[in-house]
Amino acid sequence: MNEMTPPNTERAAALKGLGSSRKRVEDARFTQGKGNYVDDIKMPGMLFGDFVRSPYAHARITSINADKAKALPGVIAVLTAADLAPLNLHWMPTLAGDVQMVLADGKVLFQGQEVAFVVAENRYIAADAVELVEVGYEELPVVVDPFAAEAPDAPVLREDLAGKTEGAHGPRRHHNHIFTWEQGDRDATEKVLGSADVVAEEMVYYHRTHPCPLETCGCVASMDKVNGKLTVWGTFQAPHAVRTVASLISGIAEHNIRVISPDIGGGFGNKVGVYPGYICSIVASIVTGVPVKWVEDRMENLMATAFARDYWMKGKISATKDGKITGLSCHVTADHGAFDACADPTKFPAGFFNICTGSYDIPVAYLAVDGVYTNKAPGGVAYRCSFRVTEAAYFIERMIEVLAIKLGMDAAELRRKNFIRKDQFPYHSALGWEYDSGDYHTAWDKALKAVDYEGLRREQAQRIQDFKAGKTRKLLGIGLTHFTEIVGAGPVKNCDILGLGMFDSCEIRIHPTGSAIARLGTISQGQGHATTFAQILASEIGIPADDITVEEGDTDTAPYGLGTYGSRSTPVAGAATAMAGRKIRAKAQMIAAYLLEVHDDDVEWDVDRFAVKGAPERFKTMKEIAFAAYNQAIPGLEPGLEAVSYFDPPNMTYPFGAYICVMEIDVDTGEHEIRQFYALDDCGTRINPMIIEGQIHGGATEGYAIAMGQEIAYDDMGNVKTGTLMDFFLPTAWETPHYTTDFTVTPSPHHPIGAKGVGESPNVGSVPAFSNAVHDAFRAFGLTQTHMPHDHWRIWKTAHELGLHG
Ligand code: CDP
Repeated sequence: MNEMTPPNTERAAALKGLGSSRKRVEDARFTQGKGNYVDDIKMPGMLFGDFVRSPYAHARITSINADKAKALPGVIAVLTAADLAPLNLHWMPTLAGDVQMVLADGKVLFQGQEVAFVVAENRYIAADAVELVEVGYEELPVVVDPFAAEAPDAPVLREDLAGKTEGAHGPRRHHNHIFTWEQGDRDATEKVLGSADVVAEEMVYYHRTHPCPLETCGCVASMDKVNGKLTVWGTFQAPHAVRTVASLISGIAEHNIRVISPDIGGGFGNKVGVYPGYICSIVASIVTGVPVKWVEDRMENLMATAFARDYWMKGKISATKDGKITGLSCHVTADHGAFDACADPTKFPAGFFNICTGSYDIPVAYLAVDGVYTNKAPGGVAYRCSFRVTEAAYFIERMIEVLAIKLGMDAAELRRKNFIRKDQFPYHSALGWEYDSGDYHTAWDKALKAVDYEGLRREQAQRIQDFKAGKTRKLLGIGLTHFTEIVGAGPVKNCDILGLGMFDSCEIRIHPTGSAIARLGTISQGQGHATTFAQILASEIGIPADDITVEEGDTDTAPYGLGTYGSRSTPVAGAATAMAGRKIRAKAQMIAAYLLEVHDDDVEWDVDRFAVKGAPERFKTMKEIAFAAYNQAIPGLEPGLEAVSYFDPPNMTYPFGAYICVMEIDVDTGEHEIRQFYALDDCGTRINPMIIEGQIHGGATEGYAIAMGQEIAYDDMGNVKTGTLMDFFLPTAWETPHYTTDFTVTPSPHHPIGAKGVGESPNVGSVPAFSNAVHDAFRAFGLTQTHMPHDHWRIWKTAHELGLHG
């Protein structure tokens, strides 16, 4: 070290590595309208597709007459199932092992289903032509109730499965039944529940909702007939998987398909699946030889692309008289709509719902999930959630509240009494998971203290007295939640999608002048990967984050990866990034030792350089090492400085959090006011605290929407009642509550930098916190359970049913 050398703390800060609240590098272009989304792609001669969709939820198609549409000037083609059948593309595989119609084949099974695809010279002509396609329908009886779907005389929805008693996930017991998935020890659980001091039982419903990214789904398919290469730009959360599936379905060799996810305006699980629009655009481009664009509108997105949740969860929880939980059982009736298109790892037909023992040390548990078909849109995606974890967290956090009522116990104390203790990690849950690390008691105590929980309870007691005395018409609810997430799928041995193991990847190239490019198998949809993955690398290889470009989403350049959903980017691709960085550093160490004329073992890493042990004034910076890699012939070493890492995570990561919502409720109007929302998250090592805070704000706002108003509702005829943003609640700045964020840090023991995912935690944790606040406000008046979403009307109705309107 010489006098000019800044101390290593200063050098570390200059890197803007782990822990730095570095500003998002993406925002410069996003805030100046320079993003490049699918609909920004314009190509010479490009055509536009639009769908004829079914107005009925269940009907036989008697005729399709496209003559008038085809006669409209500017219309190029109208595709129907009959056109796709010779190519065997009128049906497609779903991610869940089922098949789904690309275009209606003989009948329609949900309102908004794709019936015909019009291709025209521009979007407006395509839309006009859609109106001219005449489709004859013969209405069939509609099933919207998942319990009615399994009645002996229920109409057969999936005629293509007639007589099939075996599905992708085992036996089917009824023509509308998809699978039964069981976990845990049934006999032992029944025994415990049958002999317990106290048993609480409840039906908890997590309603059907929908991820609502600002950018809807779309693609541009371009078949270059000269070189035989198909390029597809699309809103894809897993571009490599799309390429493989496109190759398998179309028969086009995979090296001749290039899939590019450009900027994506939010995904939240909505852009994981394969939609008919992609297939039809590709077919149309292959047939016409020119690029074809398809971008759905908002109503199409809400009605026809993947829904989320719709789980009816019947639970039983038992405890000793003093509140020690002894067992848990859950039976789920899962409404999957017309096709089983859930986006879950293959072996998990109900996703990771078996994390439903939550943060609690529950000795025995049993879970059974029945999937059924109804006349609703297919999907079942993880809406800002790691494969049904949101449902699981909502279930257990409601069951805890219900048990607290039955025990006459404070719900915060009941949680505290049953948390998995710090010394129990790694913890094996009764339903089969190994939780990696946690310190729930510390987080919980910090949260309760931060909101002055005791004070709030005193205030609530006073409020109840005042209400009863007629001094106020407002109630106070304190919504508690302690959630445990499970994010970062793989490992490959447990988790695959369509046979593709869920690892992820990073490739790094260091340029001679000491800057770098890193390419990953994931794809940001607004999470800020270009900012944070550069930070991981900065800390690993000592090159400033500002000198590292991060690139994702182009299958011709990025290493193979399974994409971004289920908060898997940091746990899996983030780990791959660190590991690739370490390979770079290992080679850099050899180069440094050669340049310093010492043995490899005689140099040590110091922030951004290798220095000779015991002689820190003799060093080589990464910048110098990078240059040497390209201009020195180093014995035994190849030139260049590059590395690639494919990371198969040994386990998932288990972030957790303590959320508390304080809510005022006006019993006469049903209106609510969020007085305080406190969110403590533990996502292990924090890469970028500012981005984490942004993730919490965004996810909690989605959670607020879901808990307090957002739903996809159907009438008895299968009509979607909430198909526009006039009816589907999307909070604006006006409704969005203020959040106080906080944290503890419990690193993951198996992640190279100790990081866990965080993107979904606020959605998982906030929904039960908001909902529990509503329930808690009415607890003193006898409410045990009511269903979300808690819009003004439902809250008013609850108050009314409890006799609070006099
Ligand atoms: O997979 P996805 O990107 O949706 O979720 P994530 O892995 O939880 O990451 C969301 C964002 O938060 C990314 O920019 C991460 O790098 C960042 N993050 C962080 O700064 N520190 C963590 N421990 C976890 C995530």
